[in-house]
Amino acid sequence: MLKDKKIVIGVTGGIAAFKAAALTSKLVQAGAHVKVIMTESATEFVTPLTFQALSREPVYTNTFIEPDPTKIAHIELADWADAFIIAPATANIIGKLANGLADDMLTTTLLATKAPIYMAPAMNVNMYNQPAVQRNMQQLMEDGIQFIDANAGYLACGWIGKGRLAEPEEIVEYLEQAFIRSDNKGSHLAGKSVLITAGPTQEKIDPVRYFTNHSSGKMGYALAKIAYLRGADVTLITGPTNIEPPLGVKVVQVLSAQDMYQEVIERFEQTDIMIKSAAVADYRPAETFEQKRKKQPGDWSLQLERTQDILAKLGALKQDQVLIGFAAETNNVEENALGKLERKHLDVIVANDISQEGAGFKGDTNEVVIFTKDGHRFEVPQAQKVEVADKILTEIEAYMKRNQS
Ligand code: PMT
Repeated sequence: MLKDKKIVIGVTGGIAAFKAAALTSKLVQAGAHVKVIMTESATEFVTPLTFQALSREPVYTNTFIEPDPTKIAHIELADWADAFIIAPATANIIGKLANGLADDMLTTTLLATKAPIYMAPAMNVNMYNQPAVQRNMQQLMEDGIQFIDANAGYLACGWIGKGRLAEPEEIVEYLEQAFIRSDNKGSHLAGKSVLITAGPTQEKIDPVRYFTNHSSGKMGYALAKIAYLRGADVTLITGPTNIEPPLGVKVVQVLSAQDMYQEVIERFEQTDIMIKSAAVADYRPAETFEQKRKKQPGDWSLQLERTQDILAKLGALKQDQVLIGFAAETNNVEENALGKLERKHLDVIVANDISQEGAGFKGDTNEVVIFTKDGHRFEVPQAQKVEVADKILTEIEAYMKRNQS
């Protein structure tokens, strides 16, 4: 994705400036053309020669050095770039840009560019949490600048907390995804708000016991990743899983069916597309215990009660939203899935026959049949869950185009 992309790295004055050298090297190795602008403070940490050697380009440090009289360097660079990444971004550059200040090579270039700007902050945890810094970051986000969040951990200043520059690999992955998203601007999902549920739910019995199911969350996470790459604004509401959330996706963790219901209902009105791939418990214990229930002689019977059917509720509330359900079936797959499509007022249902090897719960693969309200039927043969997710989203887009939604 990064081959021949023109990327300007802005390096500002923090100890993490040394990591910008690795970032430069990784972007060059990925085939990008990289030019570097350093602030004066950045040159106190790393020399321009380091970046010149890694990028094989001259490094810009001063607005008033104009080697070519036919061009104005900062405008030339602003127009040349496909993207800007500021790494590390100090509190100072964040504050300057939030206020439209331009007093050096980096800030003049940033104000002059129309290319997307990404910022990877790095600073002491208390600076990071300072209301003024948070306010400036919020302002920049509202202005369309995207932040690659700092990581938490041991900071060079000795504090432990949020403020470590994202690793160069994470920044490269973020940029790759950003380019894929911008190439997908024509997708029907671009700019749409997509809400996805994934994983199992846990229904508490007492502090040590609960009911759950075999869902790993892989199917839902794959859908979130592909929807994000197609340009959607994705929120993933997930039961407990061991999977790393996809980059760029907002994640809300829940435990029970009732928690999931509340988080979904709260967001449904502002949602364009809702995909319910979670395996939600249909029943929960009617009674729960605050203390561990000690074992006693003889058997123990638990009364179960129905949970809220979230999908059915959404079907009843639905206005312009496109509503997609899943059906996990072991027999009469088609008949049962079509029944759910109609009863729950869905636009699309994705049926998986979980009795088949390599389909449904836990594994990396799935095999599904997609049915739409307007009578289309589409089979996706066994494939990796990300490929299945890609096909599902293609069918959802096709349905939306046919129905002008
Ligand atoms: O997570 P993985 O390991 O990758 O596995 C993927 C999967 C098998 C979980 C996934 O592909 C899948 O089929 N998800 C739906 C599982 C399920 O609960 O199916 P169902 O037929 O019981 O429910 C039908 C639909 O109603 C589903 O969209 C479900 O999210 C929804 N539902 C169910 C019960 C409930 N109380 N509320 C709901 O919203």
